[in-house]
Amino acid sequence: MRAPGRAPSGVSAIVIFGATGDLARRKLLPALYHLHLEGLLPGGVAVVGSSRGELGDDAFRELARQAVARFGRHPPEGASWEGFARRLRYAGASFTEPEGLAAVAERLREVGPGAPLFYAAVPPGAFADVVRAIGRAGLAWGSRIVLEKPFGHDLASARALNAVVHEVFDESQVFRIDHYMGKETVQNILALRFSNGLFEPIWNRRYLDHVQITVAEEIGIEGRGDFYEQTGCLRDMVQTHLLQVLTFVAMEPPLSFDPDRLRDEKVRVLRATRVCDPSRAVFGQYEGYREEPGVAPGSRVETFVALELEIENWRWAGVPFFLRTGKRLARRASEVTLVFREVPYNVFREVGVEVLGRNHLTIRIQPDEGVTLAINAKRPGPDFSLGRATMDFDYERAFPTELLDAYELLLLEAMQGDHTLFLREDAVERAWEILEPLLGSPPPVRPYPAGSWGPPEADELIAPHRWHLHGAGRAASGSGRPVQPRAADAPGRPLGTASGTG
Ligand code: BG6
Repeated sequence: MRAPGRAPSGVSAIVIFGATGDLARRKLLPALYHLHLEGLLPGGVAVVGSSRGELGDDAFRELARQAVARFGRHPPEGASWEGFARRLRYAGASFTEPEGLAAVAERLREVGPGAPLFYAAVPPGAFADVVRAIGRAGLAWGSRIVLEKPFGHDLASARALNAVVHEVFDESQVFRIDHYMGKETVQNILALRFSNGLFEPIWNRRYLDHVQITVAEEIGIEGRGDFYEQTGCLRDMVQTHLLQVLTFVAMEPPLSFDPDRLRDEKVRVLRATRVCDPSRAVFGQYEGYREEPGVAPGSRVETFVALELEIENWRWAGVPFFLRTGKRLARRASEVTLVFREVPYNVFREVGVEVLGRNHLTIRIQPDEGVTLAINAKRPGPDFSLGRATMDFDYERAFPTELLDAYELLLLEAMQGDHTLFLREDAVERAWEILEPLLGSPPPVRPYPAGSWGPPEADELIAPHRWHLHGAGRAASGSGRPVQPRAADAPGRPLGTASGTG
């Protein structure tokens, strides 16, 4: 992770393979432009776009300008854009022909000495070809490579891909990216846990009842039918983003922020996570998915997953982790909620005061970034009654500065050669291993209406608890089907009347 004032990167060029594709246009080119604007992209670093077509520098610059105009945070204008455009070059490539990277090599020679940073923004099936092509072209020495997710499509293919990668690159040159690791709010989980004396003592089975991780998206597959049909939600989101967030929530404190010390702890917690049980998973598909371009009419690909995981160690034994994610859900919200145990003996119940729910600590990854602790408090007035209140940390209010985009941050990290936030091969392989039973015997795919909270079976999975979402009552965060309340969850009051912070 970046410590203030670190040494320059020594990177001469960033070579984006797949430079005309979706990821490059939506994320990488806008991120690089923003880094340039902020003065964070070192002066001499060129950006070489590469793909199968023959574009030419000017056409690539225009493609980049349009991408930044559409997806960037700052308009591509004036001297800043001119300066950035001067960094951009194009080189056609073929990953299968013997001389397929000749044009890339030529561009790198023009750029001058220094190490290239390759970025494989290509479909996952092409990673191995990209790696071999770099090896064949003799460009691997001294370089670094960023590989996108999903890394493989199961354990065996991830192992095979790791073997190919290691034929060409040393592990120290490899940066397997998961952009959730670059989100400020995900990194803040480490700050919250390991720099506050308040939280660490209660971050365990003695005080926590269960943990929820939700990554809800309002968007659908956004024209990526081909990709999604091959990938599905489990591989696209759970094997990657949700399990990575889980590692930050559940890991032991690292001995230092040395990249491998932190990554050791992440792997350790994945190893303690029991391989999942398909009977504790729900798959869903939003209605209308099969009509999306590139999707098979009878597709059984899941666009929603909810599942329960158990972590078998002293900190977490008996504390279920409920994960859910899906597309075309009611709204965009990524959150981690830690639900605390009930007080051991509730004196208020004895005297007839209506008892409210348990405490939750909610970490809002996006949007509305922040952390909220939901507590019970005395309602003002002559009678003693309880009301739900919150203690809030809001990123925007606390730190009125623009948050760096996850890709911006991770590109900087990769340029600096810092592996802390990138995935090591053992972590990727273990994440596949955890999900392997679901890949082999997936549960039935249940339909759900677009704009809902997924199939009702997801509510049954978590019952007698209920899914929480900040700022939402039961009607807004569950699928809408009633679930039997559990006395300890919200004693004495119907779940449908959840107030305040859900
Ligand atoms: C990507 C997935 O990795 O993450 C997409 O491939 C998903 O399907 C996206 O939409 C979500 O990222 P974010 O940052 O918008 O939450």
